[in-house]
Amino acid sequence: MPFSSGNPAVDRYIAEDYDSVRGMSSAFAATICGHVIRRQTALGITGHIAEIGTFEGRFFIAMALGLAPGERALGIDTFDWPNAGLLDLFHSHCARLGLARERYTAIKGNVRSLTVADIRAALGGHQPGSQASEQKVRFWHIDGDHSREALIADLALAEATLHPQGMICLDDMLHPGYPLLVVAVHQWLERHPDWRVLAVIDREDIVAAAKFLLCHKDVVPLFEQDLMDTFKAQHWVLGSEWERYFCVVLTPQPRIAEVD
Ligand SMILES: C[S@@+](CC[C@H](N)C(=O)[O-])C[C@H]1O[C@@H](n2cnc3c(N)ncnc32)[C@H](O)[C@@H]1O
Repeated sequence: MPFSSGNPAVDRYIAEDYDSVRGMSSAFAATICGHVIRRQTALGITGHIAEIGTFEGRFFIAMALGLAPGERALGIDTFDWPNAGLLDLFHSHCARLGLARERYTAIKGNVRSLTVADIRAALGGHQPGSQASEQKVRFWHIDGDHSREALIADLALAEATLHPQGMICLDDMLHPGYPLLVVAVHQWLERHPDWRVLAVIDREDIVAAAKFLLCHKDVVPLFEQDLMDTFKAQHWVLGSEWERYFCVVLTPQPRIAEVD
């Protein structure tokens, strides 16, 4: 890939091993999100990463390899599809790809049965003196049940545990198979007027679909120009229109239709 996240461990994983972990997120999106996580660290935004819909761990490992010391990763999945061996396979990928067991936690179960306290407790791990209430997530990836109701509930859980300057990444946006998911996002944004779509990360393919990066409006200036500068060759300069503002569009091959 002609560009990188800037984190050597994340870039090595994406270049050499990403395809060895089955999954549905693009290497393009993992690279951009790896860059965002690295920039969070550089800006002093600390906390954990968490994912709803971890599957074999393809995107999870890319995010987790970008964590700073003392931060942890949480993967939530029913881990029952396509068979009961999924959780063991996930742990074996993590071990093989350099993610030590003490750096992450997996919750096997339906995310709908989890509370904010469950998320905080899982992230507290066994560190002596760690207060569950202090556990904040700085980067959430939501990639679980693709119904409108589930996405709204997942967003509520993520928002309740998010660092004030944190980021929520939504998978399968604008996917032809899930055309109404974006309606849920629009409803949520209408109820959260201080939030913005920071960036649309375009698809690589139908199984490596677009993602939206969401954050509070005060966080946008910390990342917007940086994304356009860092991924200049992937920046689709016309931007994405959200009625009240435009957001960044990053796409593997930016171009504009030729009209004679
Ligand atoms: C598209 S896959 C995730 C792909 C993965 N994030 C990646 O990037 O490769 C969706 C996952 O969400 C999980 N899932 C769906 N509904 C769920 C729920 N209610 N609770 C927990 N996990 C759920 C499924 O078991 C499945 O593994």
